[in-house]
Amino acid sequence: MFAHLDPYAGDPILSLNDAFQKDPRKDKVNLSIGIYFDDAGRIPSLDAVSRAEAAMLAEARPKPYLPIEGSPAMRQAVQQLLFGADHEALASGRVVTLQTVGSSGGLKVAADFMHRWLPRSAVWVSDPTWDNHRAMFEGAGLAVHAYPYYDAATGGLKFDAMLQSLQALPAKSLVLLHACCHNPTGVDLSPAQWETLIPLIKARELLPFIDLAYQGYGDGIEEDAFAIRALARSGVRFWVANSFSKSMSVYGERAGALSLVCADREEAALVMGQLQATVRRNYSSPPIHAAGIVSLVLTDPTLNASWRADVDAMRQRIQAMRHSLHTVLAAKRPERQFDYFLTQRGMFSYTGLSPAQVDRLRDEFGVYLVRSGRMCVAGLNTGNVERTAAALASVI
Ligand code: LMR
Repeated sequence: MFAHLDPYAGDPILSLNDAFQKDPRKDKVNLSIGIYFDDAGRIPSLDAVSRAEAAMLAEARPKPYLPIEGSPAMRQAVQQLLFGADHEALASGRVVTLQTVGSSGGLKVAADFMHRWLPRSAVWVSDPTWDNHRAMFEGAGLAVHAYPYYDAATGGLKFDAMLQSLQALPAKSLVLLHACCHNPTGVDLSPAQWETLIPLIKARELLPFIDLAYQGYGDGIEEDAFAIRALARSGVRFWVANSFSKSMSVYGERAGALSLVCADREEAALVMGQLQATVRRNYSSPPIHAAGIVSLVLTDPTLNASWRADVDAMRQRIQAMRHSLHTVLAAKRPERQFDYFLTQRGMFSYTGLSPAQVDRLRDEFGVYLVRSGRMCVAGLNTGNVERTAAALASVI
């Protein structure tokens, strides 16, 4: 019955992470998957998260199904985190927020909703983008195209070409944008560039989809919400899918949310109904443990302060690794330019390595990067950064 199925080639990121786990070499370095590792190479358990879990356990809370749209406490806390507690969009009741199964769950729900209610809207993603963006929207039945983004010549942004391309899109096109820490390039829009882009979005009646998976890893928790707050002020409608996987180091809890900023309270009520229907058809309701962690960490002042300090420390550690990598590479290959490691932000840098160079790094040195040349800088530590830089210098 199933003999005609196509064999699955595996996911380019997740399969590589599996291959890394199976590699017997002791000095191997995992710079593949977007996970933050501490200086000892471990996935950290944040103190705020452990304390939130201890409090939940001590109360022996029951575990009913959550409502389709998720925990009210988490949804409210997420809105305040994204928009700022006093944002007009929240006060006027025009923001719909659902707790979702990670931000991937949010992407899938939004993709299904778009296919049902605006089926003629094509999706435009940056060139390049996270591999799964295209797969998710195409999987939901939407056409996906790319707009210019990464400039291989400079390791920066093709901002003018991006604007020109978006300027020509039909109204209601869905434009996927990364709020910060662009995956896979680490190349972000500056606040001034967002301020230039937003009037174009408004004039062309485009529908932005903001992916915020790395809040806090760019410039800070509040700073990384710049695009969301500016878009909400401008009055355009837009989606946001946000994740706590990386910022709270709770990958397997699948803690995420999906928001749609609407025109007014009436539109928001209609949208909420159809989003609930979409979730019910997909996974019925989101996980209760994730909701407990996120809402306690976001609302308890002591836990919140501890979490923010940990996010700052994680971001600063990545920046320190970027500097160490740059220093060694610049010394070993003075004829080459490596400043992109310093200007790109968040967990990822786009190294410009070819697939053949990436294969050499893995086979000869045990250093794992995604074959696009994406490096997860958050896998570097004081024990492996010099070795990794030396390996890079020898394959470039
Ligand atoms: C990544 O890009 O490596 C992460 O977001 C993990 C994933 O699911 O791909």
